[in-house]
Amino acid sequence: KMNAFISGLMAKMTVDEKIGQLNLVTGGEATTGSTVSTDVEAKIAKGSVGGIFSMTTPEKIRKTQEVAMKSRLKIPLIFGQDVIHGYKTTFPIPLALAASWDLPMIQNSARIAATEASADGINWTFSPMVDISRDARWGRISEGSGEDTFLGSEIAKVMVKGYQGDDLKKINTIMACVKHFALYGAAESGRDYNTTDMSLDRMYNDYLPPYKAALDAGAGSIMVSFNDINGVPATANKWLLTDLLRKQWGFDGFVVSDYTGVSELIEHGLGDLQTVSAKSLNAGNDMDMVSEGFLTTLKKSLQEGKVTLAQINNSCRLILEAKYKLGLFEDPYRHCNDERAKNEILTPANLKAAREAATQSFVLLKNDNKTLPLKKSGTIALVGPLANTRANMPGTWSVNADLVNTPSLLEGLQNVAGNKVKIVHALGANLTADATLQTHSTMFGRDIPRDNRPEEEIIEEAVKIAKNADVVVAALGESSEMSGESSSRTDIGIPETQKKLLAALLKTGKPVVLVLFTGRPLAIKWESENVPAILNVWFGGIQSANAIGDVLFGDVNPSGKLPVTFPQNVGQVPIYYSHKNTGRPLAEGKWFTKFRSNYLDVSNDPLYPFGYGLSYTTFGYSDIKLSSNTLTKGKSITATVTVTNNGAVEGKEVVQLYTRDLVGSSTRPVKELKGFQKISLKAGESKEVSFTISENDLKFYNSDLKYIAEPGDFKLFIGANSHDVKESAFTLK
Ligand code: IFM
Repeated sequence: KMNAFISGLMAKMTVDEKIGQLNLVTGGEATTGSTVSTDVEAKIAKGSVGGIFSMTTPEKIRKTQEVAMKSRLKIPLIFGQDVIHGYKTTFPIPLALAASWDLPMIQNSARIAATEASADGINWTFSPMVDISRDARWGRISEGSGEDTFLGSEIAKVMVKGYQGDDLKKINTIMACVKHFALYGAAESGRDYNTTDMSLDRMYNDYLPPYKAALDAGAGSIMVSFNDINGVPATANKWLLTDLLRKQWGFDGFVVSDYTGVSELIEHGLGDLQTVSAKSLNAGNDMDMVSEGFLTTLKKSLQEGKVTLAQINNSCRLILEAKYKLGLFEDPYRHCNDERAKNEILTPANLKAAREAATQSFVLLKNDNKTLPLKKSGTIALVGPLANTRANMPGTWSVNADLVNTPSLLEGLQNVAGNKVKIVHALGANLTADATLQTHSTMFGRDIPRDNRPEEEIIEEAVKIAKNADVVVAALGESSEMSGESSSRTDIGIPETQKKLLAALLKTGKPVVLVLFTGRPLAIKWESENVPAILNVWFGGIQSANAIGDVLFGDVNPSGKLPVTFPQNVGQVPIYYSHKNTGRPLAEGKWFTKFRSNYLDVSNDPLYPFGYGLSYTTFGYSDIKLSSNTLTKGKSITATVTVTNNGAVEGKEVVQLYTRDLVGSSTRPVKELKGFQKISLKAGESKEVSFTISENDLKFYNSDLKYIAEPGDFKLFIGANSHDVKESAFTLK
């Protein structure tokens, strides 16, 4: 149904003004490409700008909106920003949030982000990022929910709900922009911006559902990805942006390109700026981010018959409708409220929520000899390049992070431990041996200390304090900018200089705890074999140091589970639990068998499987009770297990349900996540956990792209991770 207000407005607009609405420029605060918008004010005044991104504070945004209010038709600007994992109160990076498997908490993090961002003038966020990725080399794996379609889709939905609330006209909501459409997480070789080539089976069953889930949850906009898809870059891909998105999925919000995505079509080899701009609009892209290809060439293309007025009208209408949904025509300054900016950002409640979220996101990978939790007494040697930096804590894409409220790990541990613990610190190692690589691995002034003395001397200093301590905490891994955009790696280990430090620390014979900072699955086989305790803390937002203290000292029991498989080495990548069986599968527990699908030099097993994570307690699983072994179409069955906390402390467990379709018209994965529940159990307590399974849960896209469930035998698994499961079976009739 046409919006009468928008129709009336459009009747007054010139073609130039309509094209102006399709132009998104940057306010210059956080730019991620070589092109930066110029003459912004003059363009706004002329009605040549539809929206601004990367501009913050009510003061600046009001000033800019005032310019638009002086333009001929006084059409308000929309203000976007990359509010990816919190705003000033920065939460854990998305991959870490996913590791919490805590949907209400994740939704709340988006709610808080929306409240803070909207209080600071922003009404549109470039989030959630829902790209499935199974390639740890790809730096942006840190910005999504990991490898799994089901988990990723559930998270996509709650993120949208968190940002948009139940009404975009409410003052504390912002419009979501699902990204990056599509298949960006499958860029070849894990190299950012690279080509994606994918079968329809994999696309429809594994990679597309999270985008669809986010749109079905009501996301108002979607961002096109940079990558080529099967020979046509997404930004010019009509099948993707029109046939799939509009016709099959019925999306009625607006589409925006990524940063210079339109002009990059020239480098892709699709023609000059006028040609690629027309191609992009014709494909179904409504808004041009930063390229100004639409602004400078669409009128000419219209005169030459290369685009139609109907197309320009359609895109213009969708963008105006978004502004209407946000209430900007009623009050263009509705998000410019100095009081809200003062009172609703970085509140104690928000900081507390961020700290709690971080504790839920950490994954305990190993804990031999009960090395953890640490005692709140004695001496701790805290070493490593990531121990004494505040700027590195929040994680990638946290341009608004408030570093004043960001303790370093050194400060955070002391905050939690109190004064009965003596914490001594030494750098121990540089982030990377190569200073240039360290520079490339930091951004936005996010510095990490560096010491130019010879490596042996730096290590020796750390070993000395380790020898005099009761326990060693080694803060090692990646800097925050070693993952994220344009941060792909071919070596996904801990950098060599840091490994040398770790080896020297282990030689002291003191118990060593590795606090692992990372934005991706790391290949840490050696560390896993040699270090007694490893807590993977990802990048946990501005309160992460306090949260690490909470978990290391046992005030909070870790409960995170990996949303992505950790490989033994980079050669196994892409490695993921829901793989196909192949015609020559390797028998379970085997390393190598000639003429089977395996490697000569490493087993097929991951280092840590999807869904894995330990606790300071242990959980026992009963066998599965099925309400029936036959599932009739239209009905459901229930699978129940009893989970028992067998340890001495309270803890949370993520109980996971998987199925396997044993015979299909297409090959089916060996396991697929179909449900999960995060439960809390007191020491010694047992709880029954039930899952309902119906035909709908067993549907997949067959080779005709029909979404169906095929009758036959299924396996059903329930367990603590994708590997350690109880097994049962049923038949779909
Ligand atoms: O939202 C981002 C996107 O994820 C990568 N390129 C830049 C955009 C806007 O900052």
